[in-house]
Amino acid sequence: MRLAVIPGDGIGPELVDSALEVLAATSTIEGFPVDVFHEPGGAEHFVRTGEPLGADGLDRLREADAILKGPVGLPHVRRPDGTEGGLLGGVLRRGLDTFANVRPVRLLPGVQGPTRHAPEEIDYVVVRENTEGLYLSRGAGVATPAAASDQLMITREGTRRVVAFAFELARQRARTRREPARVTCVDKSNVLRSYALFRAVFEEAAADYTDVETDFLYADAAAHELVARPGRFDVLVMENFLGDVLSDLGAATAGGLGMCGSANIGAEYAYFEPIHGSAPGIAGQDRANPVSQIVSVAMMLSHLGMDDAAARVQGAVESAFRDGAVTLDDAGSPAAGTRATTRAIVQRLDAE
Ligand code: NAD
Ligand code: IPM
Ligand code: MN
Repeated sequence: MRLAVIPGDGIGPELVDSALEVLAATSTIEGFPVDVFHEPGGAEHFVRTGEPLGADGLDRLREADAILKGPVGLPHVRRPDGTEGGLLGGVLRRGLDTFANVRPVRLLPGVQGPTRHAPEEIDYVVVRENTEGLYLSRGAGVATPAAASDQLMITREGTRRVVAFAFELARQRARTRREPARVTCVDKSNVLRSYALFRAVFEEAAADYTDVETDFLYADAAAHELVARPGRFDVLVMENFLGDVLSDLGAATAGGLGMCGSANIGAEYAYFEPIHGSAPGIAGQDRANPVSQIVSVAMMLSHLGMDDAAARVQGAVESAFRDGAVTLDDAGSPAAGTRATTRAIVQRLDAE
């Protein structure tokens, strides 16, 4: 496997080191070789070069078998228009056309969530449209000192493909879940025409998936239900910005941002990263939770069809929490620190 790695900013490099340690140990046990190359990108790279990604960086990423990305961005590194320089979301998601941002939210046994739910009640996937919605306005907003505007764009084709992805994912999950497959459409179609198109395209697609239950929630009510009754969810699909916000909300119920990894998936390319940012306030202090980056490795292996290796990594994370070898403090950081948490997970890979 030729693996491209973007270490990123803030806690990115330490998280990626942890994830690569887990991957190296897994590759030794499973007997597959991994050839890693580093691709610079992010805010520090932007400060040095004026670009968030190296020249020809996208081409090199396209040639890799897999891409693992750490969080990028530093709040004080800004472009002339006031937005952050060094953020790679737009470059990679649109450049690689990874239209589905897959964000599983699971409360693992042994993790104390802030709501009173049992682990089996928090187990769903947010599928976030990743190439349009409000984010299509990135770099194209209009501002005067008195007013500023951005445009939210929903297209039929952009919605069709991500909704189809969500239905297929629900079917796939139904093979191992006891519950029937269900996809929840989250929007604000009671107020905005763009979201009404999103819902209409969802309803059209639903007709092709009569084996999958459907469910509709306005985004405000969805935020409530994600906290109050998460057990009703299986797969949720929504516009880009809604998915950004609601996936972080979901992460809080699963023990914090540091528990959640993600996959950015397109027809040709995919890359894998934590859902959170570079957490500059805790960078370099051995305090960041590396689980988000490690479960992103599991998602990457699964996407590559390496199911045994993926299950080994995921299983080692889960047994580390089940055994009480890893516990989280109130801020969502591992009590034992980043390094010790990584070791606890690596030690459990053999047993899986
Ligand atoms: P953040 O996700 O970096 O941090 C939010 C809070 O969660 C902070 O308190 C932080 O310490 C904590 N946190 C995050 N990850 C953690 C982990 N693994 N373990 C323990 N605690 C963790 O969000 P922010 O502060 O709003 O943004 C910081 C920077 O990251 C900004 O530049 C932002 O643009 C960028 N960002 C990048 C990505 C990405 O690369 N995909 C995602 C989100 C934010
Ligand atoms: C995420 C991040 C990005 C987003 C930022 C850093 C551009 O918050 O991946 O969730 O909003 O998409
Ligand atoms: Mn986000």
